[in-house]
Amino acid sequence: MPRLDGKVVRQAKKISALLPPLLPANRSIERALLELKWIKDELPKDQWHSAVNRRLKLEPLQYILGNQPFGDLNIICEQGVLIPRWETEEWCTRLADLISENACKRLVIVDACTGSGCIPLYLRDNLASADTIYNICGFDISKEAIHLAHRNLLSNRHRKFEESNRVSFQIADISDANIVCKLPVHKIDLVTANPPYIPLSDYKKPVIRGGVEKSVRQYEPQLALIGDVDPYKQLLCNLVKPSQARGFIFEVGYYKQVDFVRKLLDRSWAVGYMNDSAGRVRCVVGWKLDTDLDILERLCDAII
Ligand SMILES: C[S@@+](CC[C@H](N)C(=O)[O-])C[C@H]1O[C@@H](n2cnc3c(N)ncnc32)[C@H](O)[C@@H]1O
Repeated sequence: MPRLDGKVVRQAKKISALLPPLLPANRSIERALLELKWIKDELPKDQWHSAVNRRLKLEPLQYILGNQPFGDLNIICEQGVLIPRWETEEWCTRLADLISENACKRLVIVDACTGSGCIPLYLRDNLASADTIYNICGFDISKEAIHLAHRNLLSNRHRKFEESNRVSFQIADISDANIVCKLPVHKIDLVTANPPYIPLSDYKKPVIRGGVEKSVRQYEPQLALIGDVDPYKQLLCNLVKPSQARGFIFEVGYYKQVDFVRKLLDRSWAVGYMNDSAGRVRCVVGWKLDTDLDILERLCDAII
């Protein structure tokens, strides 16, 4: 990363003594000013100094402010649990719109690797159509994640569809072959997941060679990030197939993960993928042929 120009640092100091510590993470005075505004808007004055010094060490702003918007939810963020990303929010929005437009009644949805709980809570608030009931269960192997998901459930209580759409969270492990009997649902229609998918070799690379940002490596949990193809096999073999779910949508980081999923399913399944708005492959989507969930095809940029 190029070093910061001394002139920029002096200019920032003239505006506010709180601004220079924000420059390494932001690289420009305009962006640093925006962060300073958020810090001043969201934190009491006696925390501003410590906030900019934490940011100087590249700690993500979401951990410092304690939250991240996800649609119209405000998701509480804490070290130890992954910060929700815009890419995830984007596919959740598209999924919720699709289900709502098609009035799929009484769906049971399981969100594996739920982290902060952002996906179930977003779906609960945005799946809306007449006479529908959605039961959404999120699970994660991490105690910290499930604790935070429960806090997010409580802090987003006032939402509009709380009466008809139910959410629950629990600890469970996708590598457990008996996981389906341990979930509080009788049948599963749709499985969603944003599993850990970054291969260890990429996790270790510098960002300019396609690796992970230093602040992510330093502050976000490895358990949430490092994975590659194994989690997809566990999701299919331990959850989707034994539960007889009719559809799934899994976030991916690489095309090879889409291909891997296709190869694990027989031809009673259709599989496609969805790109994000930055043009990168973002989800692998699957549905049982000749069922109501073949509407998932509409999320796909291509079928494989
Ligand atoms: C990429 S994060 C996704 C978090 C959240 N769904 C989101 O989109 O922000 C992956 C999550 O998978 C969880 N995880 C890792 N291994 C797991 C396993 N074997 N079983 C269940 N969850 C696991 C991690 O704790 C982490 O919360």
